[in-house]
Amino acid sequence: MTIEIVGRDFLNHADTHINIDGAKNSVLPIALATLLVSGTTRIPNAPTEILDLRAAAEILRSFGLDARTTQSSLEITNTGPTRSIKAKGITDIRYSVLLVPILLRLFGSANVELPGGCNIGSRPIDIHLDGLRALGADCSIEGTQIIGKVTHAGADSYTLRYPSVTATESLILYAALGNSNRTIRNCATDPEVKDLTDFLIACGARIDGSGTSTVMIEGVKRLTGVEWKLIPDRIEVGTFAFAAVIMRCRYTISPIIPSHVAHLQNVLRSMGVESECDEGNRSLIVNGHRLAGGGLNAICVEASPYPGFPTDLQPLLSATCLLANGRSTIVDAVFPHRFRYLQELRKLGAHVRRKENAAIINESASRMKGTTVHCHDIRGGAACVLAALLADGKTVVKNEQVILRGYSRFFEKLRSLGVQVREVRTP
Ligand code: EPU
Repeated sequence: MTIEIVGRDFLNHADTHINIDGAKNSVLPIALATLLVSGTTRIPNAPTEILDLRAAAEILRSFGLDARTTQSSLEITNTGPTRSIKAKGITDIRYSVLLVPILLRLFGSANVELPGGCNIGSRPIDIHLDGLRALGADCSIEGTQIIGKVTHAGADSYTLRYPSVTATESLILYAALGNSNRTIRNCATDPEVKDLTDFLIACGARIDGSGTSTVMIEGVKRLTGVEWKLIPDRIEVGTFAFAAVIMRCRYTISPIIPSHVAHLQNVLRSMGVESECDEGNRSLIVNGHRLAGGGLNAICVEASPYPGFPTDLQPLLSATCLLANGRSTIVDAVFPHRFRYLQELRKLGAHVRRKENAAIINESASRMKGTTVHCHDIRGGAACVLAALLADGKTVVKNEQVILRGYSRFFEKLRSLGVQVREVRTP
């Protein structure tokens, strides 16, 4: 199966509402964290369609947990995990690296396959392992396995040398249970890290400084399941905000948390796009049909750790800049090699290139033509789809499954915006 998209010819140009799912990068670590949480955890707004969540549920089942999804909720019951020799799904997703601290906590040792996930350049786990070593677990990589063993009580405090998102989550998970008090410094402050931490607090963890760069944790004996509503997916918000610009439409996108989209709004403003949060601060309204001065401004933006502009939106911003007057430069200071999608944009006729850790994007929309593009990773794949909307005629999107790893009902949502999307059977 592949997807065929028709560019430039949209069926519906009216104002539209888009519903945002719970955050992918919250639900995956929270789902895995339930291995440490007794009883039932219920997530009423889970993005149950995303393929990475299915892989995470498979992993939980391999450890004897009951993980069930309905249309939009996820329910996990943990009556005591069993030790799994070879859990299914580990090499399919990146977040499975969090099994290392979890298994160390549960069983005193861990033996986990190296994680899979998006190929967006080299993704070492040295910071994770250094942190776990400092907190008392001897960890190393042997062949394709991460091997770890709790050997001593470990340090009371540890400073991450870079605020890695999953390394921060790893250390918080490791420290949440046990007898020690720990202070972790230079933590990632991303809303999804805060969501995981707040979830653990709701389950009974004693943690101060959630969502800040210094997190203080007093280990507890037991965590107990709760009902947990995820934060809205700010990357999905950004993706559809850029779609509004590309399709020259006015979209009301909700729910949102205004502080999570502040940087996105700054970038839209610099491009000349009006956006505002509604009175109740529950929606972001993006006026892609009313560009100040008639055109989109070229911009220079750097993706950097939160609260900077998110690296996950970098490819989608590049696709949007194909419409801007002149030359835009988008630097990625988080993943400096996250530019494979540029070769696909070039197939569509885009005048783009990579220069070190930056994408240089020239106005190209007027001469782009539909062709066949290949999705290499979640966000790069979604960027190819947005670029295809600018191209004349049909584009065939190959390996679209990779987009569905991280976006719930992506093509259905595009269809609801008036995009002509067709599933095509391949021989
Ligand atoms: N890094 C190291 N050593 C480490 C850990 C990270 O050198 O031990 C480097 C990475 O190579 C990268 C930078 O630090 O250059 C940032 O990596 P980080 O660890 O913060 O990212 P991550 O935890 O692997 C998560 C999300 C990404 C998102 C980033 C940044 C997953 C599962 N989660 O990755 O999401 O881009 O934080 O916000 O991938 C996505 O949703 O499409 C996605 C890729």
